[in-house]
Amino acid sequence: MNDDQLLLSIAVLGGTGKEGKGLAYRWARAGYRVFIGSRSEEKAVAAAQEIQQMLGEGSSVVGMSNPAAAKEANIVVITVPYSAHRDTLEAVKEELKGKILVDVTVPLVPPKVSTVQMPAAGSAAQEAKQIVGEGVEVCAAFQNISHEHLMDDADVECDVLVTGTSKDARAETIKLVQAAGLKGWDAGPIENSVVVEGLTSVLIGINKKYGSTHAGITITGAGNSPK
Ligand SMILES: NC(=O)c1ccc[n+]([C@@H]2O[C@H](COP(=O)([O-])OP(=O)(O)OC[C@H]3O[C@@H](n4cnc5c(N)ncnc54)[C@H](OP(=O)(O)O)[C@@H]3O)[C@@H](O)[C@H]2O)c1
Repeated sequence: MNDDQLLLSIAVLGGTGKEGKGLAYRWARAGYRVFIGSRSEEKAVAAAQEIQQMLGEGSSVVGMSNPAAAKEANIVVITVPYSAHRDTLEAVKEELKGKILVDVTVPLVPPKVSTVQMPAAGSAAQEAKQIVGEGVEVCAAFQNISHEHLMDDADVECDVLVTGTSKDARAETIKLVQAAGLKGWDAGPIENSVVVEGLTSVLIGINKKYGSTHAGITITGAGNSPK
């Protein structure tokens, strides 16, 4: 375990769901302390126990309410459907001050989930920044990673584009990407999240057309580390 892991604890709001539980599994596997958040403490405890059983002794995964998880952790990840995005953030925004929020939300509008439909703020992540206000760095990441990849130990053939409100916050988020066993790229300011969130609808469309379940993207032709 390195110094970052000793210092960092991660809350996953909506970590009882498909994407959040998969990310929580991967971070707990990497040695981070993980707090699973939910609207229901009982549901959060059950999800935490499921991950603990998969990983065995030595891992640290605890279930609690979303606000309690956001309060406990150094870095907070939100993985809820877009329809629950605003309410979930409003319920935890006081707990987020001084922290990094990593938004995984894709603003899908059923039933046309393979059509890009962005909110007035520009993207879900920009809307999150408006909701949480000053004193919170917001990054957007993991939108293009299908949950199907996450609850096992296989390599994932999809990169993670990280956008966010500061270079330092993006660098911290890229560490989480790497801890999850994925390759992360600094994809620039939070305004660029519109492209990454939109790409998910394109990938969903490709899955439908080509009979796949987890189409993804990789960046080619770039160096290995940012300047
Ligand atoms: N699934 C994927 O492969 C994938 C990939 C990339 C990005 N994403 C994005 O990640 C986010 C989560 O996706 P998911 O597939 O994990 O979603 P999900 O399993 O349907 O829901 C995740 C969690 O959100 C909470 N939730 C659901 N409906 C809610 C509501 N109406 N109000 C408040 N909380 C609610 C639930 O937690 P509690 O009931 O415990 O509170 C649920 O377990 C979405 O924005 C999605 O677009 C998903």
